[in-house]
Amino acid sequence: MPCHSAAGCGAWRWSWLLPRREWALPRGLHPPTRILGCFRSVAEVGGHRIDVALKPLLGVANDLAKKNGWFLTRQFENEANADYHSRTTAREIVNDFNGERLDYWVTGFGTGGTLKGVGRVLEKERPEVKIILAEPADAPMVSSKTAQERNRDGSPASRHPAWKPHPIQGWSPDFIPKLTGDAVEMSLVDRVITIPGPVAIKASQELARKEGIFVGISAGATFAAALEVANGAPKGTTILAMLPDTGERYLSTPLFADIQAEMNEEETALAKSV
Ligand SMILES: Cc1ncc(COP(=O)(O)O)c(C=O)c1O
Repeated sequence: MPCHSAAGCGAWRWSWLLPRREWALPRGLHPPTRILGCFRSVAEVGGHRIDVALKPLLGVANDLAKKNGWFLTRQFENEANADYHSRTTAREIVNDFNGERLDYWVTGFGTGGTLKGVGRVLEKERPEVKIILAEPADAPMVSSKTAQERNRDGSPASRHPAWKPHPIQGWSPDFIPKLTGDAVEMSLVDRVITIPGPVAIKASQELARKEGIFVGISAGATFAAALEVANGAPKGTTILAMLPDTGERYLSTPLFADIQAEMNEEETALAKSV
């Protein structure tokens, strides 16, 4: 069972009734109190235990799996991840655009499961579609063209030299995952666009404000990349952007840092006006 979240690393442990999953989570993903507060209730219900990682996440997940004999999801190399996107996300796109124009498909990468799984189907069935890969300006790993050092099983052997911490959660862990590297080597990607964190956050906020589309930071980043494509494209161009996540998971993140708990003057006046 692949875990599609690049935000944490999971190891499954099969127990008599329920599979139990242990998570290694990065520090700073959300304020730690929120993480622990929100997962503590899960721990009581499902017996999950939380390990807030100091060591690199993959190391923690690997160690837990090895020590306890648990199934490690290996979502960054696991072909089942990409296969599932080929069977689901890709089919949805191909069916929705059947008989219709589609010029660009824009995505970021966390594991690269979406990129590889959808990319190879589009290449075969809609070869005219240009595939645009977006990544954080703070972590331009694919843009750098510096190869990722890997172990024999495809897992990363080291942190990529072009990576720096960035606020686009779910995107670009500190290495180029094998699934992402495969897609690049297969020449599925036509162009790479880098997006600064603040631009991603602003795009996500504007999607909510102007379009009523409530999504996360990586969605804002992908949308910002799509806008960049649109700016250089002729009228009538059709661009499809992947918005992976809903916004409610980001209430305690920098995405909503400007929204105060109390109503501001304008909101108070509006509330009193009725
Ligand atoms: C919020 C968010 N954005 C983007 C991605 C990237 O998707 P993929 O792992 O298929 O590359 C993920 C993956 O979990 C994610 O959680």
